[in-house]
Amino acid sequence: MTPAVQLAGVRKAFGAHPVLHDVSLRVERGERVALLGESGSGKSTLLNLVAGLESPDAGIVRVLGHEMSALDADGRARVRREHIGFVFQAFHLLAHLSAVQNVAVPLLLAGERADVAQQRAAHWLDDLGLGERLHALPRELSGGEQQRVALARALVHEPQLVLADEPTGNLDPANAQRALEGIASTIERCGAALVLVTHSEQAARIAQRRVRLLRHTLEEEPAAAPAATPGSTPP
Ligand SMILES: Nc1ncnc2c1ncn2[C@@H]1O[C@H](COP(=O)(O)OP(=O)(O)O)[C@@H](O)[C@H]1O
Ligand SMILES: [Mg+2]
Repeated sequence: MTPAVQLAGVRKAFGAHPVLHDVSLRVERGERVALLGESGSGKSTLLNLVAGLESPDAGIVRVLGHEMSALDADGRARVRREHIGFVFQAFHLLAHLSAVQNVAVPLLLAGERADVAQQRAAHWLDDLGLGERLHALPRELSGGEQQRVALARALVHEPQLVLADEPTGNLDPANAQRALEGIASTIERCGAALVLVTHSEQAARIAQRRVRLLRHTLEEEPAAAPAATPGSTPP
């Protein structure tokens, strides 16, 4: 089976400022990888390259066999819409839409009927413990609840690849834990692969593998604790 993500010889600079140099990475379908590295080391850039939001200066980026670097902007947007769920640190919820309406947006964009989209969105929110908050506006929700709405929106179309950029960075430990459990259980259910950018040891534990950006390249790290369950207590 083609891997979820394949990077080979990827190079990226912003002007004279090199960020990634000869980066290679392979993520199998269903595999969960934590991407670590200092602030400014290029983690978001790497994720944006995988999502086709940035283009590499050299090298190849493949997502589920689609060569992103060979597609035009429309083609990359199609791969993103169909196969990728992106969870950001900032939630980017639409302020004037309710929780359930926010989650329904990707389905409506994909041409789903409004009532079906609404029903599926409600189902995902219910699964993430927000069944009572379907009609709340983002400003009426706590940070942790907003993150779970953003998570439901990223997963509602059951993508095969989930990219999460410091998804728990704005949350207190209890809400971070709930969001992580939500990520782990939902991607497991749709068999999706995960690339999780994080600073947090707690968050990195939901991954099976960890890689670190150091001096513009990617290094494989030995797994720290045994592949832990998301419910275990952080040190
Ligand atoms: N669009 C951009 N234009 C210029 N420089 C950028 C741009 N995006 C990121 N950078 C720079 O590239 C480096 C890596 O950034 P980033 O990928 O955001 O790092 P991280 O996510 O690991 O904190 C930083 O030095 C950042 O300032
Ligand atoms: Mg970043």
